[in-house]
Amino acid sequence: MASKENVTEGWEKWKIALAVGAPIALGLAGLWYYNRVKSSNLETKKKDIESGEKKEEQPEAKAAEPQTPVEQAQAAKNKGNKWFKGGKYDQAIQCYTEAIKICPPENKQDISTFYQNRAAAHEQLKNFTEVIADCSKALEFNTRYTKAMFRRAKACEHIGDLQQCLEDVTAVCILEGFQNQQSLMMADRVLKDLGKSKAKEAYKNRKETTPSHSFLRTYFSAFANDPIISNLNEVNEESPETVEAESEAEKYQDESPEKEMKDGLPGKSRSQFSPFLKAKKQLAKKEYDNVIELCTQEISNSTSKYLPEALLLRATFYLLAGRGTKAIDDLNQVIGLEDVDKKIKSNALIKRGSLKLQLGEQTEALDDMATAVRVDPENSDIYHHRGQLNLLLDRMDDALRDFDKCVALNPEFAVAHAQKCYAEYRHAFDQRSPMQLQSSVRSFEDLLKRFPDCAEAFALYGQALCDQQQFDQADDQFKKAIKIEPDNANVYVHRGLLRLQWKQNMEEACSMIKKALEVDDKCEFAYETLGTIEVQRGNLTNAIDLFNKAISLAKTEMEMAHLFSLLDAAMAQSKVAQNFGIQVPTMGPM
Ligand SMILES: *[C@@H]1O[C@H](CO)[C@@H](O)[C@H](O)[C@H]1NC(C)=O
Ligand SMILES: *[C@@H]1O[C@H](CO)[C@@H](O)[C@H](O)[C@H]1NC(C)=O
Ligand SMILES: *[C@@H]1O[C@H](CO)[C@@H](O)[C@H](O)[C@H]1NC(C)=O
Repeated sequence: MASKENVTEGWEKWKIALAVGAPIALGLAGLWYYNRVKSSNLETKKKDIESGEKKEEQPEAKAAEPQTPVEQAQAAKNKGNKWFKGGKYDQAIQCYTEAIKICPPENKQDISTFYQNRAAAHEQLKNFTEVIADCSKALEFNTRYTKAMFRRAKACEHIGDLQQCLEDVTAVCILEGFQNQQSLMMADRVLKDLGKSKAKEAYKNRKETTPSHSFLRTYFSAFANDPIISNLNEVNEESPETVEAESEAEKYQDESPEKEMKDGLPGKSRSQFSPFLKAKKQLAKKEYDNVIELCTQEISNSTSKYLPEALLLRATFYLLAGRGTKAIDDLNQVIGLEDVDKKIKSNALIKRGSLKLQLGEQTEALDDMATAVRVDPENSDIYHHRGQLNLLLDRMDDALRDFDKCVALNPEFAVAHAQKCYAEYRHAFDQRSPMQLQSSVRSFEDLLKRFPDCAEAFALYGQALCDQQQFDQADDQFKKAIKIEPDNANVYVHRGLLRLQWKQNMEEACSMIKKALEVDDKCEFAYETLGTIEVQRGNLTNAIDLFNKAISLAKTEMEMAHLFSLLDAAMAQSKVAQNFGIQVPTMGPM
C-alpha cells in the first residue's frame, strides 16, 4: 500500500538522518540511514579495493643479506610480496608461511602482518576458508588490525556468514571513526541483506496486528473514491441494498409465515442481511474485528452478488493486518473477474500495485497502475497513489504530473492537494531553487486557508518548514495538526524530531515521542525513532527493545527488513563496544 504512510515514512527516515547531524557524530544505525541516502554516490568507489591492494603489498627495496631471524622473516615476506605482485599467489603463500615460521613469537606485529599478507594471497585464489583462518590468526596477534578485520569481513560475506561479516565490518567502521567509505558501504550492504533475509523468515511467522483506529482513518482517507468505504452511510440510511434485503424478508414473512415457524427463527428478517452488508455496517460503526470473517462468509456463498466487494474488502483488511500474500490472492481474484464495476477493479489494481512495490516489483507495480488508468481513467485515486509510488521511486516529474491530474479530477481532495504541495516543495528543495521554494510555501498557505480542517496538510507544511529550519513556524503547524487530530501519533513524532533539530534536546524529543505512544501504542514510527535516538545516546539495550517492538508492528516485509537492519546494526555495535571495551561515538550529553 503506497498509502500516505509510506511516502511520508520514506521522507521521515531521510529526515532522521538530517536530524541527527554530521556522520561522525552518528552511531552506526544512524549512520546507516545517512548512507542509505548517499549510497548511490559511494557505489563508484567499489573498485579501489582491488587495485589499491596490490600497490600496498609491493615489496620494499631489497635489503642486504639478512642476519637475525626477524630480518630473515622480513626478507621472506618481501619475496612473498614480489610473487604476489607478479600474480604468483601459490609461491607468495609459501614465502609468507616461511616468514611466519622463522619469526620469533615476540614480534607480534610482524607475525600478524605475515598472516594478513598470506590471507591476501588466499583471497586471490578465492580460498575463503583459508582467508578467514589467516585473518583470525592475524587478529590474535594484533587485535585492532582493521585491514585483517576488513579482509575477514569480505571473506565471510563470500561464504555467506553475514553475521560474522557484520561484526567485523562494524568493528572496522568504529575503529576507523566512520571515515572509510568501503567499510561503510559494506556495512550498509550487509545490513540490508541480513535485514531482508531475517524479515523474510519473520514475516512468514509473524503474529498479525490490527492497526490502530487512527492508522485506519489515515489509510482510508487516502482513497476518495473507495467503492466500499466512501458509501458506508448508504447501509445505515435506507440504501437500495437495505431496502431490497428487508423487503425481501418482509415478502418472505407475508407470503409464507408457516415456513418461518418451521425454521423457528422469528428474527429471521435481521439475519437475512447478507454478511457483506453486516461488514459494511460494522465499518460504519468503526468496529473492525469481524470484517474479515464476515467477508469470508459472503465469499463462501457461490451465488453472492457481493462477491467482488467482499473480496476487495477482505483483501484490504488482510493488507492492513500485514498479510500481504493473502491480500494479493484476493486482489488477483477480483481483478480476474469479468464484468466487475470499474471502481472496484481500479481500486483492486491500486492496492495490488502498491503491494507489489512493497515486494520490490517496481515494473509490475507500475503496470498495475497503468492498467487501472485504462480501466477507470477518471478515478483520481489512481493518480494519487501512482504519484506516491513515483515519489518513492524518485521519479519526481511523473509524481508531480500525477498529483496535478489527481487534483484536477478531484479539486476537493484535500489530502491530495497537501501531497502535491509537499512534492513541489521537495522538488524545489532538491533543485535548490529559492523561487520554487517560495512558491511552494505560498501554495501551502493557500491550501491551509482552503482546507482548515486537514491535519495532513498542516503536518506536511510543518515538515517542510522544519527542513528549512524554520522551527518556530513548523512547531505551530504541528500544533494545529494535533488540535485537529489529537490521536494522530505521527505528528507527535514529528514534533519530537523537530525538538531534536531545533534545541538538540534528546530528553524533550523523547518525551514528545512518548506522547505519540500514549495516543497510539501501535505507532511503529515512534518506536523506530525512539530506538534510533537511543542508539545516538549510546543506550543500545533500550534501542534493541524498541526496534524489536517496531518489528512486531511492521505491516510489510520491506518495513520489517529495514527495522531488522537497524536492530542488527545496534546489536553489532553493542557487541563491538563490549569486545573492544570502547565507547561507541555518540552525540554526547545534550
Ligand atoms: C585452499 O587451501 C587449501 C589449504 O591450503 C589447499 O589445499 C587448496 O588447494 C586451496 N584451494 C585453492 C582453490 O587454492
Ligand atoms: C447468496 O447470495 C445471494 C445473492 O446475493 C442471496 O440471494 C442468497 O440468499 C445467498 N445465500 C445464502 C445461503 O446466504
Ligand atoms: C539505558 O536505559 C535504561 C532504562 O531507561 C537504564 O536503566 C540504563 O541505565 C541505561 N543505560 C545506559 C548505558 O545509559
